[in-house]
Amino acid sequence: MVSKTPAKKNNKAGAAGTVVDTLNARLADLIDLHWQIKQAHWNVTGMDFIAVHRLFDEQAAMAREMADTLAERARGLEGVAEGTIRLAVERSTIDEFPHGLIDAKKAIAELVDRYEQISGQFKTASDEAADADDKGTEDAYIELIRLIDKQTYFLRSHLK
Ligand SMILES: [Fe+2]
Repeated sequence: MVSKTPAKKNNKAGAAGTVVDTLNARLADLIDLHWQIKQAHWNVTGMDFIAVHRLFDEQAAMAREMADTLAERARGLEGVAEGTIRLAVERSTIDEFPHGLIDAKKAIAELVDRYEQISGQFKTASDEAADADDKGTEDAYIELIRLIDKQTYFLRSHLK
């Protein structure tokens, strides 16, 4: 996992500010993930092409929804959502997806790796929200962990 500068402090102080900063850090990861899945959707090759191409598109839509959930949670806490592509490039902590055409099995393995990185980040973020006594944010992360872990299982099932 790449270590990056965390999201800058925005307009919230104390524990709530930390929670908003982390929401924006994880938003950056999800924006990056969304376009990585699209990269896979466009460049995947092999006998399983059409099934995997479609599955990746569904998963890209899921990543986009997840990003929306975290951005709107930041606003719900009276913080600012920081979701431009340029901020995502600066802040994302997940590894870059391989460039060029990619075999279906390799693309799936690469995405499983990214989903596990994201799930791990959500677990840390949910613990931080729990420490801040922010049940709503903690619950949002837990829901996203369930969603991404399910998609990891969908992908991993292709590799057995
Ligand atoms: Fe498409």
